[in-house]
Amino acid sequence: MSGLVGGGAFDFDTPVDRSGTHSEKYALRRQLFGTDAVEPLWVADMDFAAPPAVQAALAARVAHPVYGYTVVDDSVPASLAAWLARRHGWMVDPAQVRLAPGMVPTLYAAVAAFTEPGDGVVVQPPVYPPFFDAVTRQGRVLLENPLLEGSRSETPSGYAMDLDRLEALARGGARLLLLCSPHNPVGRVWREAELRSVLDIARKHGMIILSDEIHADLVYAPRHGAAADAPVHVPLGALATPDDAVITALAPSKTFNIPGLALSATLSSNGTVSRRLAAAFERMPVSVANPLSLVAFEAAYTHGEAWLDACLTVLRGNRDALFAALGAAERARVSGLAPEATYLGWLDCRGVGLDDAGLMRGWVEAGLGLSAGARFGTGGSGFMRLNFAIPPSRMAACLRRVAAFSQR
Ligand SMILES: Cc1ncc(COP(=O)(O)O)c(C=O)c1O
Repeated sequence: MSGLVGGGAFDFDTPVDRSGTHSEKYALRRQLFGTDAVEPLWVADMDFAAPPAVQAALAARVAHPVYGYTVVDDSVPASLAAWLARRHGWMVDPAQVRLAPGMVPTLYAAVAAFTEPGDGVVVQPPVYPPFFDAVTRQGRVLLENPLLEGSRSETPSGYAMDLDRLEALARGGARLLLLCSPHNPVGRVWREAELRSVLDIARKHGMIILSDEIHADLVYAPRHGAAADAPVHVPLGALATPDDAVITALAPSKTFNIPGLALSATLSSNGTVSRRLAAAFERMPVSVANPLSLVAFEAAYTHGEAWLDACLTVLRGNRDALFAALGAAERARVSGLAPEATYLGWLDCRGVGLDDAGLMRGWVEAGLGLSAGARFGTGGSGFMRLNFAIPPSRMAACLRRVAAFSQR
């Protein structure tokens, strides 16, 4: 077999052996699951080779034998600005792009920049765990606005934000909202109307918003033309005016599977919040970029588009196969809605009748190493998160395990 799937010249099907590469996903299996004999479908990186253009750019840079301190030249922010214009229709001034050493450091820097110890910061669980840590580990007060769980018929696409409670928290003095857009782990793409409501609340009550949009490029467009209410990622910054205290944070790391290179960006048209965030970063003794991360960032945004389109085709196939298998299982104990974005399936295992530790054990016995939903905070207990960014050939074997677990 050619190993070429996804309708293009890119290989997403030949398994890439990640042993000996310090891969967190593989190396921590025994520690997390008690055995190496599981398919690791947990931490959010893909088991795919990075785009050939990125590999080539890195190889060329590595061939130059001096790996010294770096500066960011204008072509790097310009590559992101051009990407945003092409892929998201958002025209930004490259001068507003600031590079950052990853999204998690950005969450911490935003909390440090915009709040004082004791101030309230809103997060909307279930959500990516560092959202909580960035608040609590810096002595700020966690204000939870749990997502509302609903069916697609009730809330177009599953979960919804509780806008009434968000407004009450903002009215009560919440200083900052850490928004996850699209939302990990539930896979929602927030619609423009929802984002406008969030922005209105923030404006009215003087709440700052840091919008983590690391999954922005991994949205599944409708298959047949422009269906009404189709999931389209709208960058929060594209709706904001320079008076709005809004920062949009983006990265090539999930999009092009280069998260280990740890380079991201922030964007804001509001000079005050930009300066305050920059000052918070300056107080952190970490370097923003290195010779390899800069090269990969620019190459990915400049030359990675065809690879991403092919990758999305493969991811969509895996996503649809997963949720079709769950839907088809007789006496299914596991269910879920296909995510609108991300390569992460949020599996509702409450029908299994086990506590969270028992669920983890059950999945490991079935041969799959998933992320425990309980780690994502309120609303996560009874769920598991499954990373389906693996070669389709491996996915088929995983689906048999999913089906067997679901209907046991
Ligand atoms: C919502 C979200 N933010 C941030 C990150 C991690 O970002 P980084 O590796 O740039 O710190 C992830 C990774 O899964 C994520 O899902």
